Amino acid sequence: MSKPLFFNAFLMNTGSHIQHGQWRHPDARQAEFNDVRLWIDVAKTLEEGLFDAMFFADVSGLYGPAGGQYVDNVHEGLQIPSSDPTVLLAALAVVTRHIGLATTSNMMQNHPFNFARQLSTLDHISNGRIAWNIVTSTQENAARNFGYRALTEHDARYDWADEYLEVVYKLWEGSWDDGALLKDKAGGRFSDPARIHKIHHDGARYKVEGPHLPSPSPQRTPLLFQAGGSERGIRFAARHAECQFIVTPNPEVAQDHISRTRALAAATGRDPQDVKFFQGLSLVIGRDEAEVRAKEEDYLRYASVTGFLTHASLGILPDGSRLPDDTRLIDIPNNGGQAHVEWLRRATPDREPTLADLANGRIRRGYIAGTPEQIADRLGQWQAAGVDGINVINWRLPGSYEEFNELLLPTLQRRGLAKTEYAEGTLRHKLFGRDRLPDRHPGARYRGAFAPALAATAGPSA
Ligand SMILES: Cc1cc2nc3c(=O)[nH]c(=O)nc-3n(C[C@H](O)[C@H](O)[C@H](O)COP(=O)(O)O)c2cc1C
Repeated sequence: MSKPLFFNAFLMNTGSHIQHGQWRHPDARQAEFNDVRLWIDVAKTLEEGLFDAMFFADVSGLYGPAGGQYVDNVHEGLQIPSSDPTVLLAALAVVTRHIGLATTSNMMQNHPFNFARQLSTLDHISNGRIAWNIVTSTQENAARNFGYRALTEHDARYDWADEYLEVVYKLWEGSWDDGALLKDKAGGRFSDPARIHKIHHDGARYKVEGPHLPSPSPQRTPLLFQAGGSERGIRFAARHAECQFIVTPNPEVAQDHISRTRALAAATGRDPQDVKFFQGLSLVIGRDEAEVRAKEEDYLRYASVTGFLTHASLGILPDGSRLPDDTRLIDIPNNGGQAHVEWLRRATPDREPTLADLANGRIRRGYIAGTPEQIADRLGQWQAAGVDGINVINWRLPGSYEEFNELLLPTLQRRGLAKTEYAEGTLRHKLFGRDRLPDRHPGARYRGAFAPALAATAGPSA
């Protein structure tokens, strides 16, 4: 028997997230994304399938060059329109009981004081089921939406995120001691001031006095997801991430990425197993070969090459024209995400990949097609490469997940590759067997770190 994999559903509060063009299929409901009933249906389907988390991606602007036109983005519904996932999670928290609820937020879109407060609130509402996908944004337009002249340079974005995390860790882990919340009706003391601390953060970008306004939520720090794959991104993940999303082209590249990240995590004093890895995959599931081929054809008929290339944001000029398909990726300036290019390079070692390889790779390599037994074999190979979970990228909502439950889950369960029931407890508890960050995580160092400051201001008797 294998060890069960974790399963996330990769989602976005928009019409066209990853599998561009699929929203046009008559059975696809993603065009109804502004209707909360769609998401409630999806959430219920996912809990029936014992999924570990609904993972919502997010953006703060348009893909493409600064000042570029956005006709293709708009025609494709490529993440515009899109609505806020963090707000949506509040609704989903009250209609679900077990599933983890992950939102995505970059450091430009929200001040860390306010963001920490929002996630603590959600963690309270959901009884400890919130996760945060920490992103640094790859969009020039996002930077301009928040008043910056340009997107900060790739590695410097991670430095910025390091400080952002320092602020939120201080608020989540250090501002309130355990037991500070009294709710002492007889004594008339709601909370204990000696156990609530200002954090006095004074850094390069942020000055935050504190204290954190919410009392500690079940997980304090929400479960931390991250998706960087560049050298700087891996260093960042090794320090902060508890789960990492990857979209490597094959198990060999995944294995290499995982072992490098785990080694770096160990070098920062963490346990290599403190980081779990989720490979993103779409699935084409058929009861037999004929059904597999028919479904594959149907998906490919709807797949939009323009959507994929616009999403990759490479080779598009400000006037909307595109570089030729045979342009080598190395010849295209790229201040956006870098791992996907690097991973593609590793999958085509004989030559430098081109824009055509990029589109083709996204459309034709990003899925596993087969019968339940064949798919289970392939998932077993990913697991053998060190992958802990699968981030199931839908083609169509809610059909892709209904199909997962009906056709694939029983086989995975029979082979021990999927669990047969939910465990109780917080999201971190379900994945790691603990509610809070372990002591060896950098966020944990702020526990109890601010108490002396209060003692000093309280006078000599304190
Ligand atoms: C599975 C996956 C999901 C991602 N989701 C988002 C997202 O929702 N929003 C975002 O701005 N970036 C997202 N990214 C991009 C990453 O946060 C990161 O910017 C990208 O992987 C490039 O980082 P790197 O240059 O260190 O590789 C995602 C990446 C992956 C692999």
